[in-house]
Amino acid sequence: MAIILGIGIATLDIINEVDHYPSEDSEQRALAQRRRTGGNVTNTLTVLRQFNHHCALAAVLTQDTNGQLIQEKLSQRGLDLSSSHRIGFGHAPTSYITLNRSNGSRTILHYRDLPELDLNAFLKIDLTPFDWLHFEGRHCMDTAAMLALARSMSGTRTLSLEIEKERPFLAQLFTFPDVIFFSRAFAEGRNFTDPEAFLTQAHRWAPQAVLVLGWGDAGAHWLEPQNAIVQTLPSQPIAHVVDSIGAGDTLIAGIIHARLHQTDPHTDWSHAVEFGVRLAERKIQQIGFDGLAQTEDTAAKPLCHLDDLGPADALGVLPVNGVPSMILVRTGKTLRAFRNVCPHNGSPLAKTQRGYLVNKLDDIELRCAVHNAHFELAAGACTQGPCPGTHLQAVPIRVTGEHVFLDATPEKQERAKAENPGA
Ligand code: FRU
Repeated sequence: MAIILGIGIATLDIINEVDHYPSEDSEQRALAQRRRTGGNVTNTLTVLRQFNHHCALAAVLTQDTNGQLIQEKLSQRGLDLSSSHRIGFGHAPTSYITLNRSNGSRTILHYRDLPELDLNAFLKIDLTPFDWLHFEGRHCMDTAAMLALARSMSGTRTLSLEIEKERPFLAQLFTFPDVIFFSRAFAEGRNFTDPEAFLTQAHRWAPQAVLVLGWGDAGAHWLEPQNAIVQTLPSQPIAHVVDSIGAGDTLIAGIIHARLHQTDPHTDWSHAVEFGVRLAERKIQQIGFDGLAQTEDTAAKPLCHLDDLGPADALGVLPVNGVPSMILVRTGKTLRAFRNVCPHNGSPLAKTQRGYLVNKLDDIELRCAVHNAHFELAAGACTQGPCPGTHLQAVPIRVTGEHVFLDATPEKQERAKAENPGA
């Protein structure tokens, strides 16, 4: 476990799911709406937290209703907010996001009336415990000073920087970090269509740094300063993108986590980049960030013993910060699993181990305790409540011996998707 400080913003993301992207000056009904925390560094820390790192967020936090909701949700996820700067005015930054179900694209309209976290707030943070500091490239004058300060301190902590968009005085940031994560939009905004040409140029700006460039469905490219060779890690083809919000933030989290895991600092970055790309692929095939750390390790651990489930029973398993992330449902000899995420607003159906089932005529259904949505068991389709036309997301499982396991093979995932196209 490492101790990580992320410096950036926390937002409230209001996500409207649509079946096609609306045309201008039209009216359309959203299929589902959910609210969750966002912001690049916040998302990156949310993912890193799942790998059991201690994650502290340094952001400006407001006290309005949305600001309090953000703080509540982030604390529930186990983020340490004691390095954040709380102010008594302004509104929580809000992103209105249109998520297109047909292709997973996300269009973000961001509103913000807050000052950025400034040098004064940063100076109040005791940096000594942190192993890794990750900065968002915003407010460049102050961020450059923060980076310079962190760099001047003794110790071996790693400094990383994310450059997503063009900003005034950006070049001031380049000389300090050990790692810089660039976005494709930034490279294209500087008129580069070729990742290799971009990274070769970026190496002139930051000759000391490892440079990583996410390139969407083409994977990621990177350059290490000792040989300045641009390398590529291609993505695997993804049949159906469900939710691309925060895919780049997840790539960064995966790389930071894998790097923290490597004991020899001279190891090249290929493993870390591959881990990040695979994690981002996983992320875009699911809604939100929950359960991303449950890869091979957790697939090897049983979810429960068959005896834990009665003949008509549901059990919340695989807790993330104490809340079950999956529901196993048994009816007779049939065993199914769904993510514990209501398609209505992204909340868990319940936070308990039991209490998910309701009787419906001769049948049994799953029920979300938050707004009383009901879901039939065969495909997880909503039968009642505020989100008609939506589905719970099925999760592939297998029974081996007397235990139930996650089944993460690609074929099973494809089958789950085919059986549950709405997920
Ligand atoms: C995704 C994201 C959203 C947020 C927006 C901020 O990368 O961080 O969560 O609302 O971008 O620019």
